[in-house]
Amino acid sequence: MFDSTQRPRRLRKTPALRALVRETHLRPEDFILPLFACPGKNFRREISSMPGVHNLSVDEIVREAAAAFETGVRGVILFGLPESKDATGTGAYAEHGVVQQAIRGIKSEVPDLLVIADTCLCEYTSHGHCGVVEGGEVLNDESLELLARTAVSQARAGADIVAPSAMMDGQVGAIREALDQDGLGHIPIMSYAVKFASAFYGPFREAADSAPAFGDRRAYQMDPPNAREAMREAELDVAEGADILLVKPATVFLDIIKMVRDRFDLPLAAYHVSGEYALIKAAAQKGWIDEQRVMIETLTSIKRAGADIILTYYAREAVRALS
Ligand code: PBG
Repeated sequence: MFDSTQRPRRLRKTPALRALVRETHLRPEDFILPLFACPGKNFRREISSMPGVHNLSVDEIVREAAAAFETGVRGVILFGLPESKDATGTGAYAEHGVVQQAIRGIKSEVPDLLVIADTCLCEYTSHGHCGVVEGGEVLNDESLELLARTAVSQARAGADIVAPSAMMDGQVGAIREALDQDGLGHIPIMSYAVKFASAFYGPFREAADSAPAFGDRRAYQMDPPNAREAMREAELDVAEGADILLVKPATVFLDIIKMVRDRFDLPLAAYHVSGEYALIKAAAQKGWIDEQRVMIETLTSIKRAGADIILTYYAREAVRALS
């Protein structure tokens, strides 16, 4: 029979009661906004599959970053579309590469905004893969040196954190060693430790013009059904010297976020990726959902699962909704 002493509804009656017993809180500092730097001046182009997200020339990205900081966003992560692409992704580690310029510009204009550099080659290679290609294969060890060189050039430009996302084995260790040798031992590594080969990256590849020219990324990014393997990836990155772990995508991998949270004590980030953003945007544009509520509920689920840091194209809107 119903035991009327137990009435969970008592604590749900008013906004004040609900606020009193709320278990998960989003804060402005939780969010990192991804931005896409491209060559040129005064250039701004909206990405068709990501309304509200743009390719921005360096002058524009500095303006955008300053405006985001003004809104209350505390960090950005930068991606770059280089002037030209080649087989070894030279633009990724060029001293005056587009991301290096964007980092310098943002750090001089908005020094208190945290600048994270995504460390990968896929936006800079003509074949669109995240490493060096030979005979149709993405070579692991040969790619490490280029990734390390990329991280060093980003840190030299002033990045506060480097974030390797290529999913090459040993990349965190290689980058740690290269940073240390270059006198950059104080730069933290946020490792995309658990990155799945996901269909949710589709819109990003339009934004970064980084779709692989042949094949796909399944021989280096993780197979989505695997959870135990995700723990192994995280463990290796911890051993190699990662400072922050990252799981990506976020909402279809909340179980993985929870598992990493339970097993590891490092700060944990989750990337609410382009496709996850696009799904909400599209339904909202059709008037089918309440965008703001769906956004907050989604971001809250990522935090509740155990993420401390959330990378999201909704960073500005989320911060605004909280204030
Ligand atoms: C680079 C990289 C990708 C994303 C972040 N870093 C693309 C990929 O692996 O194809 C995806 C981010 C998003 O979809 O928002 N390797």
